[in-house]
Amino acid sequence: MEQVPDGRQAVAGEAGAERLEPHEVEYVAPLGAGADKNERYLELRRYVRALVEHETDWLANLANVAAAVYDHVPHLNWAGFYLMKGGELVLGPFQGRPACVRIAVGRGVCGTAVAERRTQVVPDVHAFPGHIACDARSRSEIVVPIVVDDRVVGVLDLDSPHVATFDIEDRRALETIVKDVVPHVDWAAATRV
Ligand code: SME
Repeated sequence: MEQVPDGRQAVAGEAGAERLEPHEVEYVAPLGAGADKNERYLELRRYVRALVEHETDWLANLANVAAAVYDHVPHLNWAGFYLMKGGELVLGPFQGRPACVRIAVGRGVCGTAVAERRTQVVPDVHAFPGHIACDARSRSEIVVPIVVDDRVVGVLDLDSPHVATFDIEDRRALETIVKDVVPHVDWAAATRV
C-alpha cells in the first residue's frame, strides 16, 4: 500500500493499477439553488447508494445516510434515525441539535409512523396532536417507517423550521432511499437493546 497525493491509501488492483479502497466515496456536494427537488433526490439517492454499498457496519451506514440527507435536503434543522429497541423508539444516528432519546409507539409523529406503519407528512407540527417538540425550531416534519420482514425496525425522521416543507415527492424519494439502505444494515444488531 502506498500513499496517493491526496493522502488516501491506494491499493494495487488486479492489473497492478492503483485504485482506491472500495469503501472510500468522494464527497458529493448538494446541487445549487437552481436545482429542482427531483434532481436533488436523484443525486442524493446515487450518493447514498455509493456510501452504503461496500460497507457492512450498520452504525457507519446509518450515520452516513443521516449526514447525506441533512446535507442534501434543503431547509432542514434535523435529520436522523430512531431505532426500535425493546418495544420503543430509541435515538439513533442523526444530524442537528440533541434530541429526545426515547419515544413510545403511538406517541408523536415518529411513534405514529410506527403504529400506523405509514409515512407521516406533517405540514404544521403545532397542529399535530401529541407532536414531541425536541427542537423548538421545527415547524414541519416527515417520518418514514423502516419495515424489514414485516417488522418496523425504526424510522427516518426529517424536521424543517418552515411550514409545509415536505410533500408527496419527498415522501416517495425518502421511502425509496430507505428501501435502498435496508439491505446494507444489520437490523438485528441495530435494534439490540
Ligand atoms: N418530533 C418528533 C420527535 C423527534 S424529533 O423531531 C427529532 C415526534 O413528534 O415524534
